[in-house]
Amino acid sequence: MVQPQPESQADPQADPRRTSESPFPEDFLWGAATASHQVEGGNDGNDWWAWEQQPGRIRDGSVSGDGVGWWSGKAEEDLALAASLGQNAHRFSLEWSRIEPEPGVFDPKAIDRYREMLAAAREHGLTTCVTLNHFTLPRWVAKRGSWLGSGMGDLFSRYVAHTVAELDDGVDLWVTLNEPNVLAYTAYAGHLWPPGARSLRACFKAMRQMLKAHARGYHRARELTSKPVGLVLNMPLFEGHRPDHPHDRIACGFQDWAFNGLLVEALRDGRLRFPLQLIPRTLPELAGACDFVGLNYYGRFEVQFDLRAETPLGRHVQQPTTRTEQTDWGQTCPRGLTEQLVRIGERLGKPIYVTENGLFDNSDTQRPEFLVRHVRAVGEALRRGVDVRGYFHWSLTDNFEWAEGWSTHFGLIEVDRKSGERRPRHSAEVYARICRSNGAWCGDSA
Ligand code: BGC
Repeated sequence: MVQPQPESQADPQADPRRTSESPFPEDFLWGAATASHQVEGGNDGNDWWAWEQQPGRIRDGSVSGDGVGWWSGKAEEDLALAASLGQNAHRFSLEWSRIEPEPGVFDPKAIDRYREMLAAAREHGLTTCVTLNHFTLPRWVAKRGSWLGSGMGDLFSRYVAHTVAELDDGVDLWVTLNEPNVLAYTAYAGHLWPPGARSLRACFKAMRQMLKAHARGYHRARELTSKPVGLVLNMPLFEGHRPDHPHDRIACGFQDWAFNGLLVEALRDGRLRFPLQLIPRTLPELAGACDFVGLNYYGRFEVQFDLRAETPLGRHVQQPTTRTEQTDWGQTCPRGLTEQLVRIGERLGKPIYVTENGLFDNSDTQRPEFLVRHVRAVGEALRRGVDVRGYFHWSLTDNFEWAEGWSTHFGLIEVDRKSGERRPRHSAEVYARICRSNGAWCGDSA
């Protein structure tokens, strides 16, 4: 079980305990992350827009609508605000459906708008990490079967080639895909995200197709850019409810393997193993196909053996946990972030960026402490020799949280969607101190 830190240690208001030996390198990136569909507004050419119009799909009945106005000009304001809050980097994503609204037809106006955003980031001294595809697919791709359709590797690498050639000047780090595992489980095994296939077969097929597309996109991008190109994985910590109970260990081991392990290993040696592939086989082009790994980490699941559970072999029983009635982000557990960083470092030997870490906390009461404890956990991984190069909090502003709609607030900055006004939360100030002190403000106990 996680032992909460004593209040005095975890309270970010307490006197900073600076350390002369900060584990954070001088060029460490401190930023926040966003994604196109969640902030831009007006993304009516993708599969999510269509999904949101169907009654009952979004828990609070809302739609992405105008987002938080990034497409119509607010991106610049938010990037300036991020920089004024001490951040030196930003991770955001591009909308495939804007750049290629019809098969093979590219829209120069969309490219121009992204150039403006990249220029604003540069003007404010923000290093940019740009994700080519963060969950949403153009509607014309959805009509062909989304990630289950044929030729996805060709389609994705054509989009990657065009986009990297056009925008590379303003980008420092490229990411091909965001979280193939989360997308496969939620949208293909499950029914909460489009296309809502509800099939395990579809889930693993979609995951294989994403890995193939990543490999194709990675090699295509490599021909066109000298910037690092990576893949972002979401890796929660799974632990047995009764750590010594064999059934809990089997259930937890299987869930960790099916969610985390099989992707890490596939990226290492190109081998697609069970259950990703019934009869294992190797994709040589996938082996080592990343210059860095992006780790998205939210929390810990405690698994109790139960064959009737919705999750394979066991149900999630961690308490307390961060959840709504339909989504569970797990229990806050900074130790798990250190463990996953160490694991990726050991298995893949690549530089790592924490590309997302955050929690929905509408009252902003837990986020300050959450930030401090997770930054310490990154510091601990650095002390253990892991090559971690940046931390991006999820998220810069409140945004459209997929099937949850607008009611779960992840932002360091609160947004009044009617007036467009931005109000940095207390946690934004806490994070600013962390960024400005290069992590030293958190003290050094993980
Ligand atoms: C996704 C984000 C999402 C966040 C919080 C991550 O899995 O990449 O798009 O908003 O989790 O749920």
